[in-house]
Amino acid sequence: FDYDVLNGQRVVITAGPTREAIDPVRFISNHSSGKMGYALAEAAADAGAEVTLISGPVNLSAPAHVKRIMVESAQDMLDAALHSVENCDVFIGAAAVADYRPESVSTNKLKKGKEASMDIRLVKNPDIIATIAALPNKPFTIGFAAETNDVLSYAREKRLRKQLDMIIANDVSIAGIGFNSDENQVTLITSTDEISLPQTSKRQLARQLIEQIAPHLPTTR
Ligand code: PMT
Repeated sequence: FDYDVLNGQRVVITAGPTREAIDPVRFISNHSSGKMGYALAEAAADAGAEVTLISGPVNLSAPAHVKRIMVESAQDMLDAALHSVENCDVFIGAAAVADYRPESVSTNKLKKGKEASMDIRLVKNPDIIATIAALPNKPFTIGFAAETNDVLSYAREKRLRKQLDMIIANDVSIAGIGFNSDENQVTLITSTDEISLPQTSKRQLARQLIEQIAPHLPTTR
């Protein structure tokens, strides 16, 4: 591993799930543990980058030499991302951001009614990475695509639609990789290349990803 490969680069990484409140005690979320994003933050810092990690609620401690900002909802994560992204060279979206949130958040705890069912109307959340990629001063922008089927074709389509420089396709249907596991296996997709990285620990994989990303950066200062 090259300990200088990101020297002087500013990197912003999102990690973990978001929580979308229903009422003061309930939320909608997902199984992201934050392990992949935290491993990337650690690898980027080890490679000499100045790293800001924007994290949803997870049970991990901040890696050494990483500035961590804790957030809850997708809207909070977007605010933190827009705040952190100025002068940043690379943005990596490893977070599993909720695509939808409840339309309204009850101020009081919802009570159980007599009805056998209840509806919660959801509205679309902002797309954080697409917002970053649309900035006039956009950093080199890298997303993940968590898919259960047609992984590569959905990932290619997502990269184009969100105007990402690179997307990391993650098959989350295979046991032992993806959400909440210690290992992962991905395919890295750019406009010209598709590189598949075999299953290994998220820590090891993060280091391989950093080494793959580095040559794409315009100025290795
Ligand atoms: O956290 P772990 O347990 O270690 O698991 C890692 C992981 C499986 C969560 C991670 O490797 C991963 O694949 N993260 C992306 C998960 C996801 O929600 O993917 P997506 O295909 O829904 O989103 C595509 C991209 O858009 C992602 O970079 C995502 O961060 C981003 N996005 C999505 C929705 C939204 N509203 N805003 C976004 O920025």
